[in-house]
Amino acid sequence: MKTIIKNKNTITEKDNLIILLNKKSKISNLSLNSHEIKYVKNQQKNNAEIIILNQYIRKIIFINPKDQENKYLKLENLRCLGDKILNEINTFDSVTIKNIESDTISTYAFLEGISLSNYTFTNHKSKKEKSKDITIYICNSNDDFKEIEKITNAVRFTKDLVNTPFSHLKATDLANLAQEAGKKSGYTTTIFNKKKIQSLKMGGILAVNQGSIDEPTFSILEWKPKNAKNKKPIILVGKGIVYDTGGLSLKTSKGMEIMKVDMAGAGTVIGAMQAIASNKLPKHVIGLIPSTDNRPSGNAYAPGDVVTMFNKLTVEVLNTDAEGRMILADALSYAEKYKPELVIDLATLTGSAANTIGHFGIVSMQKNAENQHQKLKKVGKKTHERLAEMPFWNDYDELIKSDIADIKNIGGSFAGAITAGKFLSNFVNYPWIHLDIAGPAYVTNKYSYRGKGATGMGVRLLYNYIKEY
Ligand code: BES
Ligand code: ZN
Ligand code: ZN
Repeated sequence: MKTIIKNKNTITEKDNLIILLNKKSKISNLSLNSHEIKYVKNQQKNNAEIIILNQYIRKIIFINPKDQENKYLKLENLRCLGDKILNEINTFDSVTIKNIESDTISTYAFLEGISLSNYTFTNHKSKKEKSKDITIYICNSNDDFKEIEKITNAVRFTKDLVNTPFSHLKATDLANLAQEAGKKSGYTTTIFNKKKIQSLKMGGILAVNQGSIDEPTFSILEWKPKNAKNKKPIILVGKGIVYDTGGLSLKTSKGMEIMKVDMAGAGTVIGAMQAIASNKLPKHVIGLIPSTDNRPSGNAYAPGDVVTMFNKLTVEVLNTDAEGRMILADALSYAEKYKPELVIDLATLTGSAANTIGHFGIVSMQKNAENQHQKLKKVGKKTHERLAEMPFWNDYDELIKSDIADIKNIGGSFAGAITAGKFLSNFVNYPWIHLDIAGPAYVTNKYSYRGKGATGMGVRLLYNYIKEY
């Protein structure tokens, strides 16, 4: 299902309409008859947020949002209202949105809600439901709503990648799909195969891949427009574990059920790169994606092993299920060669992050990037992909000291999200933000316009942050 957004200047009496109201809106100048006006006004008085007027030849849907605490929650409420009326809109072939107060950002959020909500993952259904594209006309607006179409398409792509099961998405598949998306949207892709990864001595990636029957990949996605405003690139790093069994430190069956989600960091980076390139943002951005599955086998890496990483630090592996940090560490130290302005990594890194804040936001940490983090937090409120910053005190460093190597890959029994972040901080020497998306990346109950299953959370955050950077 696609949502197509177009501009339009005239409305006929047959056009289905959506009218965004606010407190000051006067509905009297809409050529409704007196009964209709009375009905709508009554509903407004009762604080109905969605008012549907059936004129038989067409429907008029009034959106009458409740007051919210602040402007950010107002936007989020509009996205949720977009989700709530999707079923109604789905009965139309097209609908025209008329915003009588012409407040662009409200229209934008509302459209975003409709478009994001309009998603199903049917790739593996033998009987495909007939899916319908919705065309939404924006009336009398000079604003370019094509941007939302591109962003929401990118979110959809991320969700498809994350929803795709391991049986259909190995590390090489993920890399190839990233490359294909690059060809369409404009960024370039370089894929390192196992041989190249071996020659680079990326010990973390190779250790995790030891138990796999499939090859690892390391993909470099680059968007470097001629009009780039930043001299040094912004780098996005995404955890691309296409399936996490835990390895020899095997997970329970329950713990494995959704572990196809473990490449959501990578999926989010790919979606963000697509959104950035297709909207031609004037910023130099690079995506790095280390990828493999994590499995037990005769040759799998084992608890107690010591691994020499890409940057020559040695790691004592005490739990093979803490594999995300092993592959991310190599990617983070690889990022140094670009002398980046800022690096943001995204990963479904720890159950601890999900336990701490649930699926309502993203657990964040930073090193040498306080200002950038502050800004990202603000964009998080705007997009409702909110950040919850963890303490990052030196005390936590003690917990990952190893007796026999430089560091170990697990901490104590508490603060698991933080010790994972601390582990990664050993591999960075530039401004860096770490985003643990283990909670929000995948939900088992519908979460408004984000749907059920993969949510794509993070794509809009990264896109908007880089746009405003
Ligand atoms: N991929 C998991 C984290 C995860 C859990 C993601 C739930 C999404 C939902 C990660 O590789 C992992 O297993 N982490 C361990 C680390 C521990 C062994 C230190 C965890 O969080 O239990
Ligand atoms: Zn794991
Ligand atoms: Zn994992």
